[in-house]
Parts: sequence; structure tokens; C-alpha cells
Amino acid sequence: MADPSPPRIPQHLAVIMDGNGRWAQKRRRPRLLGHRAGANAANRCIDFCLARGINALTLYAFSSENWGRPDDEVNGLMKLFLQALESELASMIARGIRVRFIGERERFNDAIQERMRVAEERTQHLAKLNLNVAASYGGRGDVVHAAKKLATLVQSGDLRVDQIDESVFGRHVELADLPDPDLMIRTGGDQRISNFLLWQSAYTEFWFTDALWPDVDDKLLDQALSDYANRERRFGLTGEQARELTEQPA
Ligand code: IPE
Ligand code: IPE
Ligand code: MG
Repeated sequence: MADPSPPRIPQHLAVIMDGNGRWAQKRRRPRLLGHRAGANAANRCIDFCLARGINALTLYAFSSENWGRPDDEVNGLMKLFLQALESELASMIARGIRVRFIGERERFNDAIQERMRVAEERTQHLAKLNLNVAASYGGRGDVVHAAKKLATLVQSGDLRVDQIDESVFGRHVELADLPDPDLMIRTGGDQRISNFLLWQSAYTEFWFTDALWPDVDDKLLDQALSDYANRERRFGLTGEQARELTEQPA
């Protein structure tokens, strides 16, 4: 059978996994059930990336702002994180996945922080897929954190103010060692970034769908990929210039 994957595959896919609560509410079930179904969908998305040869996947699991949800929901989500961290590690290792967490991890309880550390340590040598889980993550917080690191370097005399440019700054935000996301998918019908990778998504292609995250399947993800494959990324240049650049032999 011919290879069904589109010719141009994103190297780095970012996903705003939205719609878990509504998925459950439609079924008259508690929101937490939607989050459980959402965790299964995340696992399917990971397998999809492995199958399509996508090298990095960044999943928005919990934003800095999500701490403001009702206690019941936050507590339920924390239980679910801990369970997932415990139950999924072996399968991540077996699938060759390097797991990393981005965000304010000090806001999580000790058990979760410890499991995050163990998962990162035990998968750091793996390279089939770079999986980044954004947990208690906010794009503005990410930028502020980078600014603070640079200020500290200036204060200690290790960096001069005139040396700070976009490339130096970019080395201090999260995911600095990976290419910026090529494609960002948001499910759940809303068309906004909700404080996700603000710095890193300057030239990311966006793809929105009304599908609720727990309903996402390979067919829908393939639609996003084929849409992406047909887009022209110009990075501020003219179409002609951009085509010249992509047509140049490697
Ligand atoms: C996304 O689903 C998951 C988290 C934010 C943790 P939501 O819980 O936001 O689902 P909706 O948007 O209310 O349906
Ligand atoms: C964005 O979804 C965060 C995650 C998917 C983790 P939200 O449901 O929190 O976003 P808003 O509130 O609709 O902007
Ligand atoms: Mg939502």
C-alpha cells in the first residue's frame, strides 16, 4: 500500500487539548471523566506521532490559569496526573519516548514532582519522540522566567546587556533545544492561544477543529497534517522568495 502520510511532516507538533469538560457534560457525566478520556486521546496522539515520524510533540495538559478551577476539578486532575505518571512510564520507555515537563513544576505536590523527575531521568537517553508535557505552564511566565535568568547573568557579570538578542533570549525559554513548533492544533472549537507557547509559536501554523479532544482520532490528525503540508510558510518573505528557499537542494 502507498504511504498515506503527506509529503511534508511537521518536525514539532504542539497541541492544545481542549474540550474534555464539554465531552463529559454532553454525556451528563462528571468533567473528570472527560479528563480521563482526554488522557487516552493523548496516548493515541503520541502513537500517531510515532507512526508518522513526527520528532517532537508538545501537549498542553494544564495551564497556569487552570489552577483557578474549582478545587474538586483541580484535585481530580492531580490524581489523574499522578496515576498517569505511575502507569505510563514503562510504556513510554518501551516506545522510545523521551519525556519532559515544562512549566512551574514547584506548584505540584511532592509526589508528582518526584514522578516527573524520575520520568525525565529514565527516558533522557531515548530519541524516537520528544514528548513535552506542559503542566502549570504559561507562555508569559515562560518569557518572564527567561528575562529573569538573563537579568541574573547580567548582574553576575556573565552577560552584557548589548549581547542580548532574540537568539540569546530564545536560548532561555522552554524547549530551546528543539525547533519551534511547525504546527499547532487546538481542539474544542475555540480559536485562541490561551497563554501556550507565546515565544515559540511566532511562525507556527495553526489548525483549529470543533472536535472535542477525547474524540480526536488518527483520521482527524491526518487532516491537520495534510492541511499543513499544503500551506506555504513565508516567514515574512514573498511567496517567490519562500519557494526559492524550499526548492533549494539540501
Ligand atoms: C482541557 O479541557 C483540559 C484542561 C484544561 C485541563 P477543558 O477542561 O478545558 O474542557 P472544556 O473546554 O471545559 O470543555
Ligand atoms: C487551554 O484550555 C489549556 C489546556 C488545554 C490545558 P482552557 O480550557 O484552559 O482555555 P480557555 O480557558 O478556554 O482559554
Ligand atoms: Mg477548555
